[in-house]
Amino acid sequence: MGHRRRKPPPPPRPKRRVLLFLSIPVLLFLSLRLPSSVLRRANSLGRRCAPERPFLPPNAPSTQRLRIAMATFSFSGGREDGLSRRRSFEGLADLAGRNKRGYAERMGYGFVDAERLVDPHRPPSWSKIPAVRSCLGDYDWVFWNDADTIVTNFEISLENILESAIGHMDFNASPDLVVTEDINGVNAGVFFVRSSDWSKNFLDMWWNQTSFIQFGSTKSGDNAAMKHLIDNLSPGELQEHVSISSMQCLFNSYPWSLTWRSVIRLVCSPHAIWRGTYSKGDFILHLAGFDNKKEWAAKILQEINVEKL
Ligand SMILES: *[C@@H]1O[C@H](CO)[C@@H](O)[C@H](O)[C@H]1NC(C)=O
Repeated sequence: MGHRRRKPPPPPRPKRRVLLFLSIPVLLFLSLRLPSSVLRRANSLGRRCAPERPFLPPNAPSTQRLRIAMATFSFSGGREDGLSRRRSFEGLADLAGRNKRGYAERMGYGFVDAERLVDPHRPPSWSKIPAVRSCLGDYDWVFWNDADTIVTNFEISLENILESAIGHMDFNASPDLVVTEDINGVNAGVFFVRSSDWSKNFLDMWWNQTSFIQFGSTKSGDNAAMKHLIDNLSPGELQEHVSISSMQCLFNSYPWSLTWRSVIRLVCSPHAIWRGTYSKGDFILHLAGFDNKKEWAAKILQEINVEKL
C-alpha cells in the first residue's frame, strides 16, 4: 500500500487502435440488444394493444353470460410432425395446459382439450378445425389457441378482448371470426369463432382446402388455407363476418429474439413487429416458430408470477 509508484510511461500508440477495434464488437453487441429491450418495453413506451378502458372481469348474472370455450390441444406435436418439432414442444404441453385450464377456471369459461379429435391423416395442426367445429353446438363463442400459447395476463377476460376487437359489446351482432394478423397476414394459431351458420360453413370450407395440406415441413398448410379463404371473400362478406385486429398484441403476441430473420423483418416492417411483439401486460404469448418453446414460456411465466401473482 503506502509507497508511491513512478508515473508510468505514456502508452504506446497502437493501444488506442486496439481499444477502438475492441469497442466495435462491444458497440455492435449493445446495438443488437437494443431492439429486443425496446420491444419488450413496448407497453410502457406507450403502445396500446386495446382501446384504453379498465379491464374488469365480466360480472353479468350467469344466465346472461356468454358461454365461451377455450379450446386447445394439449399434445406435444404429433407423429407426422417430425422429431425436431416434437422436441421443441417437449415439456411445454403440461405447462401451457395447466396455465390455460387455470385461466378458464378462474374466468368461468369451458376448457376443451380436443386431443382426441386429432385426425391422423393430416398434420395435427389441421385438426383445430374439427375441434372448433365440435364446440360450436355447446358454446356461443370458441376461443381457439394453439398448443404453444400461454395466457400472460389473468386480469383480462375474453369478453374484454372481443369488445376491443369488434368495438362494442353486442357479441351476438358481431363478426363471426375474429383474428389477428402478423407480418405474413392472418394467423390461424389464436382466433375466436362465433357459433353461427356462417362459421360452420367457413370451417367446413377451410377443412375442404385439401390442396394446402403439407407434410414434413414446419408449415402444415392450415394457416395458408385460412388466409386463402379470407383473401377470396367478397369485400362485403369480409366486412360483415371477419374482424382482423390491427393490433396483433391484443391477443397474439410473439416474442422477439435476435436472429437474422427477425432483424430483417424488423427493418422491413417495424410497425408490424411493434404491434405484434410480446411486452409485459399482453394477454397471450404465442411461441410461433420458436425451437426452445419451453424455456421461453417458463421464463416469461416466472417473470409475471414474481411480479404479480
Ligand atoms: C366439403 O366437402 C364435402 C365432401 O366433398 C362436401 O360434401 C361439402 O359440401 C363441402 N363443404 C363445403 C362447405 O364446401
